[in-house]
Amino acid sequence: MASHSLWVFGYGSLCWYPGFEYRSSRIGHIKGFSRRFWQGNTTHRGVPGKPGRVATLVEDGETFTHGVAYELVGEAALSYLNGREVTLGGYTTLFTEFYPREGAAFPALLYVATPSSQHWLGNAPLHQIADQVVSSRGASGHNVEYVLRLAEFMHEHVPECRDEHLFQLEQLVRLRVKEARLCLRTLMGERAPSPVSSSEDEEVAPAAQRTTSFQFTSAVPAKKLRCLGV
Ligand code: SIN
Repeated sequence: MASHSLWVFGYGSLCWYPGFEYRSSRIGHIKGFSRRFWQGNTTHRGVPGKPGRVATLVEDGETFTHGVAYELVGEAALSYLNGREVTLGGYTTLFTEFYPREGAAFPALLYVATPSSQHWLGNAPLHQIADQVVSSRGASGHNVEYVLRLAEFMHEHVPECRDEHLFQLEQLVRLRVKEARLCLRTLMGERAPSPVSSSEDEEVAPAAQRTTSFQFTSAVPAKKLRCLGV
């Protein structure tokens, strides 16, 4: 690692959607924090008055949180991240030690929300967090997508990750989606709504078409969504 490189540690959407140019990335962990869905979001995964829930970190002894560290290239990446995480997300920054799977630890910047954030929601029973996730969406897509893509990233790329908060929330969200017979593929932004859908269907642009993700420029109508035989 070049000592002049700036590394950013991602533990939420930055794991599966960095959205900026980087020179290299490493999977690993930080110590002393737990990942919690305690930060509200009214720009990317919710709207004003109906916030979604996104990840933040809370200090927690010697606990590990797994994620990805990115080596930034140029100023543009940092200004993109500050816009996405600080201006829109209500996060602040701090430096901590990052432990890659192999090699020596090095410092990394991370974005964290605290109770002083205007979007802070704080602790709640996990089933209530799941209900909020399943009923929230914003300019970047559905809140379900945020939770499930993060959990899937950990299952696939970080099998050593033992994050009960994330994985129990994943299970509750999957259960709620199934019970309500919602269309998971549409919630995940993987398909356009069916042309035979009833007027109850919402219109969520497929992920591939969401070129404005994290820029808060698209609007998603707030209607109920169901799978209609697909
Ligand atoms: C992160 O991913 O590191 C910060 C939280 C988020 O943007 O989801």
